[in-house]
Amino acid sequence: MSEKTIDFDTNPPVATNEYDNLAQIALPGYEAMHTMALSCLKAHLSEIASLLIVGAGTGKELVKFGQGNLQWQMLGVDPSANMLSIAQEKIQQHNLSQRVQLFQGYTYDLPTTPLYDAATCILVMHFLPDDGSKLALLQSIAQRLKSSAPFILVDLFGEKGTRELEQMVPILKAYWQEMGMKLEQIELSLLTVNTSVYPIAEAKELELLRQAGFGNMIRFYTGLWCGGWVAIKN
Ligand SMILES: C[S@@+](CC[C@H](N)C(=O)[O-])C[C@H]1O[C@@H](n2cnc3c(N)ncnc32)[C@H](O)[C@@H]1O
Repeated sequence: MSEKTIDFDTNPPVATNEYDNLAQIALPGYEAMHTMALSCLKAHLSEIASLLIVGAGTGKELVKFGQGNLQWQMLGVDPSANMLSIAQEKIQQHNLSQRVQLFQGYTYDLPTTPLYDAATCILVMHFLPDDGSKLALLQSIAQRLKSSAPFILVDLFGEKGTRELEQMVPILKAYWQEMGMKLEQIELSLLTVNTSVYPIAEAKELELLRQAGFGNMIRFYTGLWCGGWVAIKN
């Protein structure tokens, strides 16, 4: 099956031109998380590598991974034209046009050759319901990776209705207040979480990764209810 997901163009959980600001405020350690993801990739890849960036959005990974002495080639995939148009501006501003390409659509639309040396899927999978859509996304990524390729997954995690996630809600509210979010925005964010986000327990994240053909997972990042794992394609 292919994946069902939220549409950032017709029904965005946050206005696309506000995404970059809000992500910094709402996601604990957003900037550091991308630095850690880059470190995980650098630990596995040489200076020349091809990367598949799934859910490239406004281009955060494309710019972050495009800096320094690295000569990585990247394909950013995203169904949202509005998010990708912001990414396109950043690619030009950072002179990355020779090394970064964008594809508006889904990973399963891509050819299965050539295979990539690495992939990332950062802050995407929690928008997909756990009805086979999450597994289909992970499988579509695994099918486009070389054996031994690293894969970075960053996802909101925790099972709705459990004590762990219930206890997290007041902590999140307090964190967002500390970060200067207005009460109205906090309520809106919680509503979005309730209606449009489908987090799963960490054990399920790892199980889905295994089922999709990944192994050797380690968690490299935790920001309250957001986790980051690096996995290796079998
Ligand atoms: C919250 S943004 C994350 C952007 C970026 N990765 C970051 O770290 O800030 C989620 C992005 O995933 C995209 N998206 C949603 N469903 C997707 C899918 N099935 N495959 C690829 N991208 C998807 C959305 O259009 C959106 O641009």
